[in-house]
Amino acid sequence: MKRLSIAVLPGDGIGPEVIAQAVRVLEAVGERFDLCFEFARYPIGAAGVALANDPLPAVTRNAVVHSDAVLLGAVGDPALDGAPRELRPETGLLALRKLLKVYANLRPVAMRPALLAASPLKADRLHGVDLLVVRELTGGLYYGEPRGRNGTTAVNTLVYTTAEIERVARVAFAAARDRKRLVTSVDKANVLEVSQLWRETVTKIARDYPDVRLEHAYVDTAAMRLVAEPASLDVVLTENMFGDILSDEAAVLAGSLGLLPSASLGPGPGLFEPVHGSAPPLAGRDVANPIGAIATVALLLRHGLRLAEAADAVDAAIAAALDAGARTRDIALPGEPSIGTAEMGDRIVEHVFSGAVEGLA
Ligand code: IPM
Ligand code: MG
Repeated sequence: MKRLSIAVLPGDGIGPEVIAQAVRVLEAVGERFDLCFEFARYPIGAAGVALANDPLPAVTRNAVVHSDAVLLGAVGDPALDGAPRELRPETGLLALRKLLKVYANLRPVAMRPALLAASPLKADRLHGVDLLVVRELTGGLYYGEPRGRNGTTAVNTLVYTTAEIERVARVAFAAARDRKRLVTSVDKANVLEVSQLWRETVTKIARDYPDVRLEHAYVDTAAMRLVAEPASLDVVLTENMFGDILSDEAAVLAGSLGLLPSASLGPGPGLFEPVHGSAPPLAGRDVANPIGAIATVALLLRHGLRLAEAADAVDAAIAAALDAGARTRDIALPGEPSIGTAEMGDRIVEHVFSGAVEGLA
């Protein structure tokens, strides 16, 4: 049996708790589908700083590049808010993305029928919401040089090359082919030169995908459309910073940030992490929602390991647990009973196995 090595980076805050449930689900999937996963845990973020004074310690760096996929919890710790940039947990995450060259970040947001009432938007706006944010992840303002501070002046640089735009655009168009065949490319081309290059380049790449419709939207309009008519969107393609902001906004539609997964893809092993952060106030209390991390496992199986059937089984188990009424605190309606992180994991694991039985019937 082929061994699949998964580098597990639990990180900070609620990261370890939600990742523990995600790993249990992967183990269940391994049993059901006869797959041999090997898990090895490595520090990142504040955990890396505590252990090795480095938010991305060398041991982690060496391990991830040799793995088949990387599963990450979350990074961030308020205790390091004032730390110099090289000791900040977020710096470890940015360095990891760069190391793995994961330039395309996929953040799917779909409305789960069982959770319509958990969304702050009115139900009529939510019908048919099923979108995918494709965020460029290794360029733009996050990485541009020069950057720094000098007394009362600070600078960051927004820079993109045609090649960087082309490769992420191709990911978006290819994804749209399996969906509703619409790409909305988001920029600020009425102001920024970088956005003008973005728009030109995406338009050029679109010619290779004549079966996919391309539209352009300014980022401010896109932000409005996301809440005013979210069902009109399919694939939203955008640069790093805009994608960071719009993906949190899109997450609200689903009812809770705790539900959403992400996949970051490049030429080597992919990086898979829930969209939510380390949520320090929730840490260690068994209240965090593990569904984001477990849905991330489905993306890891689908995009990282090309095991579509196993990925479908995880998605089905999440849906079944929700349909059966399992709710963590963040998605429970007022008065509705809720369960903890580990129990939500239990319920989903049960459905991974009962799905196998139904599959036989
Ligand atoms: C995200 C997060 C990160 C980002 C932070 C933690 C650096 O907000 O993954 O969206 O800005 O990319
Ligand atoms: Mg973010």
